[in-house]
Amino acid sequence: MSVPYTAEMLESVKKVEAGRADRIGFEPRRMTAEEKEVILRENHPDYNMDSFKTIEVGPNAGEKAPIELVDLLQANSRVKGMDIDLAHPTYDVDVLIIGGGGAGASAAIEANEGGANVMIVTKLRIGDANTMMAEGGIQAADKENDSPAQHYLDVMGGGHFANVPELVKKLVCDGPSAVNWLDHLGVLFDKDENGVMITTHGGGTSRKRMHAAADYSGAEIMRVLRDEVFNRGIPVVDFTVAIELIKDTEGKIGGAVLMNLETNEIMVARAKCVIIATGGAGRLHYQGFPTSNHYGATADGLVLAYRAGARLLYQDTLQYHPTGVKYPAQIYGALVTEKVRSMGAMFVNKDGEVFMHPLETRDVAASGIIRECKRGNGVPTPLGDGIWLDTPMIDMIHGKGTLEKRLPGMLRMYLRYGIDMREVPIVIYPTLHYQNGGIRITADGMSDIENLYVAGEAVGGIHGRNRLMGNSLLDIIVFGRNAGQQASKKCKSVTLAELTLSHVDQFAEACAKAGIVTDLVSPKLLPDYRRKV
Ligand code: FUM
Repeated sequence: MSVPYTAEMLESVKKVEAGRADRIGFEPRRMTAEEKEVILRENHPDYNMDSFKTIEVGPNAGEKAPIELVDLLQANSRVKGMDIDLAHPTYDVDVLIIGGGGAGASAAIEANEGGANVMIVTKLRIGDANTMMAEGGIQAADKENDSPAQHYLDVMGGGHFANVPELVKKLVCDGPSAVNWLDHLGVLFDKDENGVMITTHGGGTSRKRMHAAADYSGAEIMRVLRDEVFNRGIPVVDFTVAIELIKDTEGKIGGAVLMNLETNEIMVARAKCVIIATGGAGRLHYQGFPTSNHYGATADGLVLAYRAGARLLYQDTLQYHPTGVKYPAQIYGALVTEKVRSMGAMFVNKDGEVFMHPLETRDVAASGIIRECKRGNGVPTPLGDGIWLDTPMIDMIHGKGTLEKRLPGMLRMYLRYGIDMREVPIVIYPTLHYQNGGIRITADGMSDIENLYVAGEAVGGIHGRNRLMGNSLLDIIVFGRNAGQQASKKCKSVTLAELTLSHVDQFAEACAKAGIVTDLVSPKLLPDYRRKV
């Protein structure tokens, strides 16, 4: 098979190959704390102040956020001008879950287990979410040489100690039981011949605690959660979006206004508790970055909660996964799992030089790649410069056949375009991957609004200013289950007063008073990739 690399790229490949044998067993130096600080400040997109602006209205007024997010937070409501009959809801449930990914499904299962009448509404279909796209694995400190305390330190260090301690404590202490729960539900984790879970390192981990199902861990987890939702007969309303939250006249959450995406029909769901599990924001393409995210990742939950009065936390920090596909064009921005590096592949520049440790934390690794390209050491591709990820090292380190066995999804993805990553290195560059910030919650999963819970990527604070690999699959399970359990308990004592959308009018008035004039409506719901003429 002839590799679809340009002549210039193939020349560079020769240099990568020439140094490969010397790299086996070589451990590149880790950066010092000071070096990390400098590399982040000078290269990480979060420090590019031109792409942020100040929020003018609402609980986070005066703080900064990406321009696209601020514009959506302060845009017009989709219910503006509508006459909505709140007194005659289409649905009346104990617990309404907005979002059908891993967090939403986990919440639904636990709320159902707790005896609540629960319903999921989801923008696309259940499982069409970032969970499905997750590849590398789920962290949990369940080995003898590990402990939740060790995991806690890694999470805090990775997050630059900005994490909310009580949330991290919950994440790491509930980690082993979360993986055990998934194992018992039927997730096919990688195990050795004795049935013991195989675990590997991720960037910034001090112990091997990454549990995986090959390189499609999220898809495998979602397969099982979706089956469980269906087996329990939990109602799922597909292709239906929440376009505004409803409160009651006492300020408690009271449900949501829904819109059927196929018919535009408006419906009201009355609910004693609501769980936002709407995921991330990659499809907002901050700073023009491509994304590894699912099509529906447009920060909808943040917009809904914010207008209703919930405070956000770390809305100014995003995660750019160091290894997005740079080339070929057909898979531009797609995720190349960190597991590729945890199995030994190294970053190499166009001259065949290793310029950093492959398992620095993600923000540092992404910054290192951006800096190397800025310095003119990137690999030139028809789509711009990237960096080699020397994937043939994997089989050299672990034996022939390893890459095929442990990274079958990656191998297939590249083979489709004529690139055999067992034979040649691949070109990568950072891709927008994760929203580190989101809606503020307490350890019981509740936001600032009474009975409004949040789980998954829509939460802010668990990961501080930078998440480590595998802690997202963990947080959707831990905080998804937690939100479902808490909501199913709480709804038993909730009596709703009259429903109202007055908070939406109040927010619009505050925007008008601040002089904000915009045609934009939000939540965005779906990205718009139509060619502009
Ligand atoms: O690299 C990865 O497989 C991504 C994992 C994550 O974001 O947790």
